[in-house]
Amino acid sequence: MIDFHRLIIDWYRLNARSLPWRETKNPYYIWLSEVILQQTKVDQGLKYYLKFTNNYPRVLDLALASEEDVLNDWQGLGYYSRARNLHASAKMIMNDYGGVFPREYKDVISLKGVGDYSAAAITSFAYGSPYAVLDGNVFRVLSRVFDIELAIDSTEGKKMFKGLSQSLLPENNSAEYNQAIMDFGAMQCKPKNPDCFSCVLQDNCLSFSKGIVGERPVKSKKAKTRNRYFNYLLLKNEGSLFLKKRISKDIWQHLYEFPMIETRKMLSIDDLKSEIFSRYSCLPSEMKSLKKHVLSHQHIYANFIFFDTDYTGPIDSWVKVEVLDLQNYPLPRLIDRFLIEDGLRL
Ligand code: ADE
Repeated sequence: MIDFHRLIIDWYRLNARSLPWRETKNPYYIWLSEVILQQTKVDQGLKYYLKFTNNYPRVLDLALASEEDVLNDWQGLGYYSRARNLHASAKMIMNDYGGVFPREYKDVISLKGVGDYSAAAITSFAYGSPYAVLDGNVFRVLSRVFDIELAIDSTEGKKMFKGLSQSLLPENNSAEYNQAIMDFGAMQCKPKNPDCFSCVLQDNCLSFSKGIVGERPVKSKKAKTRNRYFNYLLLKNEGSLFLKKRISKDIWQHLYEFPMIETRKMLSIDDLKSEIFSRYSCLPSEMKSLKKHVLSHQHIYANFIFFDTDYTGPIDSWVKVEVLDLQNYPLPRLIDRFLIEDGLRL
C-alpha cells in the first residue's frame, strides 16, 4: 500500500495556497469559509469571506443581523438558501449552544445547511477531529489514483468512497491532510487537463498507468436541465419602478425581481404583447433581447420589457422603488447583471 497521506501532505507543504481561513482555528470563521466555498471558487470566495468576517465578526453579530442584510452581503454568490441556512444556524448557535460554536461532529452536522462534508471539514480544521472530507476534489483524486469504476453518485459508490477516504486519513493530522487532499484535487488533479507528468502520485496512480485518467470519476446520472422563460415587466410609477418579492418555494426565494410573467415556452413578441395586455391592460414600448442565465439544473431565458407610461393599475404585493434604491434590495444575479448592463445600477 502506498504511503498516500505522506505523499499528499508533502506535496501540500510545497504547494499550499496561503488562505486566511487556514490561519485560524475559530470554528465560526471556518464554517463561514466552508459555506462560501461550497458556492464559489477560492478567488471569488476570498472577497466574501472577508466581507462576512468583517461585517459579522462573531456568531452573535450574524444572528442579530436582518435577513435582508445577510442576503445582500451574499448577493452575487447565488443559491440564497445557503445564506438563509447560515443565518438560521447562527440563531440556533445562540439559542441552543449559548453562542459557542458546537464542538462535536453530531452537533455540527445538525446545523442547517451543514452536511457530511462541511461537518468533517469544520471539525477537523478547527479541532483536529478524525473525520475525512469527501468533496468533489476528493472523489476525483481517489477515483483516479485507485482506479475506481463505481459511480460517485450511486449509493454503493458513495459508501465505498466514504470508507476508503476515512481509511486513508492520518488521524493525528486530519486538519492538514484534509486541506492537502482538497488542494491537491483543485490544483494538481484537476477535472480537465490534469498535469499528470509533474504529479507526485504518477507512479502510484492506477488510472494513469492504464491511460484512463479522463474517464475517472464515473457518474451514473446526468442531471436534467429545465428551461424556463421569465418575462420581466419594467413598470414605472412616478419615476420609480416596481419590484416584487419571490415568496414561493422555488429558486430565489425571498429575493426581489420585477413583476414577471413566466411562460411555458418562448412566446413570439405578438403573443407576449397579448398576454401582457390581458393581464395588465397596457402595452410595452420596448423589449430588451433575451438574456440567458444558467443555474445548476435550470436555464432561465429572460426578457426585459419596458413601458413608457406610468402604471396605475392594481399593485397587490408590489413595492415601489426608486431607481437609485434598487441596489439596496437583494436581487438575483440575473437582475443585478441586467441593471448594471442597462445603466440602472451604478
Ligand atoms: N474548498 C472548500 N474548502 C476549502 C478550503 N478550506 N480551502 C480551499 N478550498 C476549499
